[in-house]
Amino acid sequence: MKLLVVGGAGYIGSHTVRQLRGAGHEVAVFDNLVSGHAEAVPGGVELIRGDLLDAASIRAALEAQQPDAVIHFAALIEVGESMREPEKYYRNNVVGSLNLLAALKDTRPVPLVFSSTAAVYGTTDAVPIPEDAPLRPESVYGESKLMTENMIRAFHAAHGLPYVILRYFNVCGAAPGGEIGEAHKSKTHLIELACLTALGQREKMMIFGDDYPTPDGTCIRDYVHVQDLADAHVLAVEALHAGRTQAATYNVGLGRGFSVREVLGAVDEVVGTPLRRELAPRRAGDPPRLVADPSRIQAELGFSPRFTDLREIVQTAWDWHRGHPHGFGEG
Ligand code: UFG
Repeated sequence: MKLLVVGGAGYIGSHTVRQLRGAGHEVAVFDNLVSGHAEAVPGGVELIRGDLLDAASIRAALEAQQPDAVIHFAALIEVGESMREPEKYYRNNVVGSLNLLAALKDTRPVPLVFSSTAAVYGTTDAVPIPEDAPLRPESVYGESKLMTENMIRAFHAAHGLPYVILRYFNVCGAAPGGEIGEAHKSKTHLIELACLTALGQREKMMIFGDDYPTPDGTCIRDYVHVQDLADAHVLAVEALHAGRTQAATYNVGLGRGFSVREVLGAVDEVVGTPLRRELAPRRAGDPPRLVADPSRIQAELGFSPRFTDLREIVQTAWDWHRGHPHGFGEG
């Protein structure tokens, strides 16, 4: 298959590009490099520098590449920033996705795999969370993803555009080998921050609240390794291409959760010294427990994650950060 990966220079996109190539597919990347890194795109993969907000550039890329399917990762992802700058998030995530959908409809109505998020559920009592749980995003970021999901469903209904929507839980880790990994410009994710703290780039870890209704009082999340998530994209795009699915939405998680304290404990073990940590007030908008019910993707796509051990997951993140303490391009 020939694939166009929009946002393929980012964290999850670049891991997926590698897994797609490993599965024998031909790949081109379309990315504006605002948060992606050219260094994350492997040699032999064409990098088209373009922006979904420039509708002509994505049309030209589809016409030039003639892909069999498109995978769409390109989005801004910071919940806090989305609340301060909603226009930026609606424009980039919703208008950008609309431009892509219109270009697909007009030029090449091939299947689409879309990156969505557990943030579309908001706070929920469901444990674990099935795909048909109520959708009540609490941030502009989550809302922008839900709006895009709804646009995709409407394009499917009206124009037959096949799709798979993947709702990611907490993505973490790095490809074993340490060549690529998480390198966000603004750091908010727990495991990345803990690794940077272990490297001495931050003084201490803050634990955002220990009075949640969970066994140790800290928030519980379903951590999914980025390489397993990349495999989920390969499974999704192959099922679409083979006609085994036309329209499906899946949670991508493991169905088990770890608390903030458990994650920091695993980082201590991997790094070999205890991180300094300090209790801080709750962070606004953090639900106590977000754990996926992944049974649908397991049953329908055969999703079977390989990274189930928290220490192993953290080890891959640590190997990447230790080898690249300043992300891409600086060692
Ligand atoms: N946390 C800390 N200290 C830190 C950083 C995080 O205690 O320095 C806590 C958070 O409060 C939260 C947990 O660690 O309880 C995980 O936080 P992350 O920021 O790593 O991840 P989130 O669960 O907030 O968000 C992630 C993605 C979002 C996505 C969401 C869906 O970053 O894009 O999962 O579940 F929407």
